[in-house]
Amino acid sequence: MKLITAIIKTTKVDSVKDALAKIGVTGITLSEVKGFGRQKGHKEVYRGTEIEVSFLPKSKLEIAVTDEHLDKVIKTIEKSAKTDQIGDGKIFVTDLSKVIRIRTGESGPEAI
Ligand SMILES: Nc1ncnc2c1ncn2[C@@H]1O[C@H](COP(=O)(O)OP(=O)(O)OP(=O)(O)O)[C@@H](O)[C@H]1O
Ligand SMILES: [Mg+2]
Repeated sequence: MKLITAIIKTTKVDSVKDALAKIGVTGITLSEVKGFGRQKGHKEVYRGTEIEVSFLPKSKLEIAVTDEHLDKVIKTIEKSAKTDQIGDGKIFVTDLSKVIRIRTGESGPEAI
């Protein structure tokens, strides 16, 4: 199992969510975060205004997936989050050792 952490443009959250639902993703955690990449937050346009601060608002999606679904989920996020502009975001993948569904006590891939 893997944990996908995707930092994306806030304006792309709905399109990513819809695209992931279409391929059968059953759970997503969304957080509003702040961050910067290579441009250090400068000269990036946020909602039509050029902002010159270090940390820009971004959205963070966390999605636990089986190894089998990993590539498909990554490709779907890439496609649906892309605007071809700077600041489109990043996808981080980490190993996930355990998942437990609290209600049923199931653990492992069935709990995803
Ligand atoms: N190395 C990193 N570690 C942690 N978070 C990062 C890293 N790089 C980018 N991020 C997060 O992703 C967000 C978007 O990054 P961004 O897309 O601007 O990356 P970039 O490398 O500057 O690429 P681009 O040149 O396309 O803008 C940042 O605001 C930050 O929250
Ligand atoms: Mg950048």
